[in-house]
Amino acid sequence: MTDRIRIDLGERGYDVLLGPGALRAARHHPALSGARRHAVLADANVLRLHRSRVADVLDGPGLAGPPIEIPEGERAKSFATLEQVLGQMLDLELERGDAVLAIGGGVTGDLAGLAAALYKRGMDVIQVPTTLLAMADSSVGGKTAINMPQGKNLIGTFHQPSLVIADFGFLDTLPERERQAGFAEIVKAALIGDRDFFERLEKSGRDGLTAAQLQAHLKTAITFKAGIVAADEREAGQRALLNLGHTFGHALESEAGGALLHGEAVAAGLALAFDYSARLGLCPEKDAARVRAYLELAGLRTRLPDLPGAPFSATAMLDRMRHDKKNSGGHIRLVLAHGIGNAFIHDQADAADLLNFLKDQIQ
Ligand SMILES: NC(=O)c1ccc[n+]([C@@H]2O[C@H](COP(=O)([O-])OP(=O)(O)OC[C@H]3O[C@@H](n4cnc5c(N)ncnc54)[C@H](O)[C@@H]3O)[C@@H](O)[C@H]2O)c1
Repeated sequence: MTDRIRIDLGERGYDVLLGPGALRAARHHPALSGARRHAVLADANVLRLHRSRVADVLDGPGLAGPPIEIPEGERAKSFATLEQVLGQMLDLELERGDAVLAIGGGVTGDLAGLAAALYKRGMDVIQVPTTLLAMADSSVGGKTAINMPQGKNLIGTFHQPSLVIADFGFLDTLPERERQAGFAEIVKAALIGDRDFFERLEKSGRDGLTAAQLQAHLKTAITFKAGIVAADEREAGQRALLNLGHTFGHALESEAGGALLHGEAVAAGLALAFDYSARLGLCPEKDAARVRAYLELAGLRTRLPDLPGAPFSATAMLDRMRHDKKNSGGHIRLVLAHGIGNAFIHDQADAADLLNFLKDQIQ
């Protein structure tokens, strides 16, 4: 069965179709059938593995031309690839009444979303997430970005999709490591604001998550994010909570130079955020320990020396955190927690204390 989750943003509102038959269910959706033509921007890997699945959905409406392939991996989120993609879109003579179908993980979604936002001052994008991470998080909410040498996601815009099609058929080919990494963003939703959800995750254990359980967990995570995005689309306030684990995580991801997947970095970042909260006396130690234990049970490594890309430098990590785009007024802004399901924004982290904390964690 396909779930339909509404992202309530007034005239920019849209549906998320989620489940095993989402692509089929989307065929007659007005956001898909209403576009004049479609241009496919797809992760090269996904295109190779799922060409027939994708062809299926494009049967009805017109395809603007051959798919535009996006090289796989984080490096595709660059100015060079963006320029190439925009050039190919111009070659296809896309018009503003056409729509881009972004088929792939978070990298494709972020890049294609930005290309769609910029192309002739904006055209529709339909997100077709193919990783667990992209289904749980990145395809919903309208953040698009590319990376710069100074850090991740520093150049971007908000551009909401007109539809999200999260079809579980794609997950059949997703490597286990990617699946585990994506799970971190589901856990993140629970840790921010839904303790009951965290307890349900704990109960469902590590192995043998059925498709129905996965769908239920994804639905909860997306619905949770939808509520936050609807209340604060452009991150003027509480949307920043969705960055739990990400300030530490982005620093780790950048320092690891490609060895660490985004979701893996987020998982370690979640554990760090809870440990740091406990160190400041803001969160019970037992909650921090429980978060770490669950992430490890889910196959996500949380101890810095165990992570791909280790050893890390505390000074280099702190330097990355100082450049995080969420900071303001020269202060490091962190999302911390008073407990599981109770995250809050901490605006004035003490850099010297943070450095000592990181040094302790690195040993
Ligand atoms: N915009 C947002 O709100 C937001 C939120 C979270 C993360 N992100 C971004 O998302 C990115 C990470 O996304 P990701 O983890 O999906 O990474 P990804 O897009 O790099 O995909 C991971 C890998 O899986 C492959 N792949 C994708 N779908 C597959 C499938 N169905 N079968 C087999 N292989 C498949 C890809 O080719 C790639 O090698 C980061 O750049 C991060 O910054 C954005």
